[in-house]
Amino acid sequence: MKPESPAPDPTFPDATGPDLSRLFAAARAAQDRAYAPYSLFPVGAALLDESGALHAGCNVENAAYPVGTCAEAGAIAAMVAAGGRRIAALLVLGPGPGLVTPCGACRQRIREFAGPAIRVHVADPVAIRAAFTVGALLPDSFGPDNLGAAPGGTDGG
Ligand code: THU
Repeated sequence: MKPESPAPDPTFPDATGPDLSRLFAAARAAQDRAYAPYSLFPVGAALLDESGALHAGCNVENAAYPVGTCAEAGAIAAMVAAGGRRIAALLVLGPGPGLVTPCGACRQRIREFAGPAIRVHVADPVAIRAAFTVGALLPDSFGPDNLGAAPGGTDGG
């Protein structure tokens, strides 16, 4: 039987360090502000961009269910609005006990701004539980290069 999530990459170093602590704290704070009255499944996400700036987001649900947005989408929108164009690391934090690996649509959203080696850390409210590469989450993906575009766009783009 296939596992529900890809196996964590055992070559990753332990999920420690100042950057991961910052990512965890920002995602945890965003989770506290999630708007998830329908699923009761609050999610926070935080990412570091190419300049080391931190951006966070949470899920924002809607009475018209499909209109709701994921935490990762919010964090990416915050990065782009602040001028960031590349994801250096990302952390998604859910309520547990299951791993909150990004949904399929968010894997594509992340891939737009991150190369295959970039790490996506997955946490519960207490600790980081696993890490995956973008390439493991979305292998053989379609991205900006397929359209002859530079990853993260060009100036003004
Ligand atoms: N959700 C996220 O925000 N990120 C994920 O990676 C998985 C799911 C949200 C969407 C919805 O508001 C709730 O979690 C339940 O699916």
